[in-house]
Amino acid sequence: RKYTIPYEEIGAEKLSELLRAFYKRVAKHPLLIPIFPEDLTETLRKQIQFQTQYLGGPNLYTEEHGHPMMKARHMPFKITPDRAQAWLECMSEAMDEVGLEGKFREVYYQRLVMTAHHMINSPNEDE
Ligand code: HEM
Repeated sequence: RKYTIPYEEIGAEKLSELLRAFYKRVAKHPLLIPIFPEDLTETLRKQIQFQTQYLGGPNLYTEEHGHPMMKARHMPFKITPDRAQAWLECMSEAMDEVGLEGKFREVYYQRLVMTAHHMINSPNEDE
């Protein structure tokens, strides 16, 4: 088979491992702490649902929460270029931690870069 659905390639278990490693970093990042809830349990649960469908798996996020409208859902938070960079750094480090490598990682990460840049809705604090 030439094309594998990315969700099948990573698998449910590895995806949740990745996102747990990601939020562990978000919880410690000085630029991200102020906008995230203290308890990230529910945030992690929703992100697993979202990434499952983002990678071509079952539409778990939409089934429970409706249309993703990600940019609109991020409007209550100041998403600055620096915060987008911080978010992506947490993700890249999480990918290192769980051993995501090669073409799969490259393509997935580049897609997250585009989505993260699309979420930006405010200038940096000092600008
Ligand atoms: C929710 C920040 C990028 C997907 C959130 C929340 C914050 C946030 C503060 C609310 C957390 C909560 O109340 O539980 C950021 C920042 C980003 C970013 C600073 C940097 C660019 C992204 C990207 C994606 C994404 C790139 C998807 C690829 C989500 C999802 C939720 C969420 C699925 C849950 C939405 C819901 O409440 O239903 N994000 N985010 N975010 N974010 Fe982001």
